Amino acid sequence: MGDNTFGNHLKITSFGESHGVLIGVIVDGMPAGINFSLDLIQKELNMRKPGQSHLATPRDELDKAQILSGIFNNKTTGAPICLIIKNEDIDSTKYEKFRELLRPSHIDYSALKKYGGFADYRGSGRFSGRITAGFVMAGALAKQILRKHNIYIIAYTKGIGSIVDDRYYDFKELERWFSIREKSMVRSLNPELSKDMIKKIEIVRNAGDSIGGLIKCVAINFPAGVGGPLFNSIESNLSKAIFSIPAIKGIEFGAGFNAAKMKGSEHNDPWIIKDGKILTEKNDSGGIIGGISTGMPIEFTVAIKPTPSVEVSQKTVNIKTMKEDLIQIEGKHDPCIVPRAVIVVEAMTAIVLLDYLLLEGKISSVIES
Ligand SMILES: Cc1cc2nc3c(=O)[nH]c(=O)nc-3n(C[C@H](O)[C@H](O)[C@H](O)COP(=O)(O)O)c2cc1C
Repeated sequence: MGDNTFGNHLKITSFGESHGVLIGVIVDGMPAGINFSLDLIQKELNMRKPGQSHLATPRDELDKAQILSGIFNNKTTGAPICLIIKNEDIDSTKYEKFRELLRPSHIDYSALKKYGGFADYRGSGRFSGRITAGFVMAGALAKQILRKHNIYIIAYTKGIGSIVDDRYYDFKELERWFSIREKSMVRSLNPELSKDMIKKIEIVRNAGDSIGGLIKCVAINFPAGVGGPLFNSIESNLSKAIFSIPAIKGIEFGAGFNAAKMKGSEHNDPWIIKDGKILTEKNDSGGIIGGISTGMPIEFTVAIKPTPSVEVSQKTVNIKTMKEDLIQIEGKHDPCIVPRAVIVVEAMTAIVLLDYLLLEGKISSVIES
């Protein structure tokens, strides 16, 4: 399998370039018979869209989802589903100079070594965050099926720079949290911290710089007993999916790196019985033990690096002259990738979890809705 297809039973194939004609995804392996809602897909895409607020890149794109195949009489048919968005706001002139002047911590040098200078460099081509619009469209479909099985996924901004939301959310009133997140420009669940996070992004943006952050993702009601102890562990497959999102630099499940500082008696999640069900009293395991789901919420946090394209002057190399040089990056860029990546993390999680349920026969290949 090459670089562009992901999944086992449910496969997504990503295609398109940032400044080409379009961006798209082919979703193969979806059950037949599901009511198809382009509106639901569009709602999710709008949360990733550029230009949503002054905190995102001003690239002016409608990101209007179009369906090309796999739907008949408004239902999924079981055939591959092809979804696209067109690219409209294209100005590739700013990218010419990066063929010589390497952007620090961007893809110019590694792509040159890999593709010998033939890769589409316009708008960073296949390396652009825009590629993730395809992930979001596929994820919206996957979520629709998961919801029918009472499985819900919510991701939110946990941190921007050193501003971190350490509150623990039990997500009992999920719709309320979705609505709070929608109202927050940074996709936070904490209105007070949201203001500080916005301020932080404004400060770095005004200084021509960028900032990173944290996204937390929680999947609720995923059944116990799914996954595998080794190469099919839920952590392995989720990590692979999450690291396919550009700019992600870390992932931790449950207590994550904090577990390294804890004693066994602190980290262990005591088993309890509640309403006749076996649960754990807390969830430092992040809903996964031995690579297999426990039935507790699957919980993980990802670290997003600061956007590499910054206006402040940085040291680099000119590969034509083979001399060290300085670079200042203009153009349309996100001062912080985190708010737009929240829905992408949610989408990739939905794709992985649905893939498991289809593969392990927990969801059938025909679902009438
Ligand atoms: C939603 C989203 C938006 C992004 N926007 C930008 C951007 O405006 N400018 C930029 O330089 N990088 C942006 N990136 C990140 C780059 O695509 C990424 O850093 C680059 O391809 C290098 O890959 P790596 O960071 O995973 O190593 C964005 C990523 C995502 C997920």
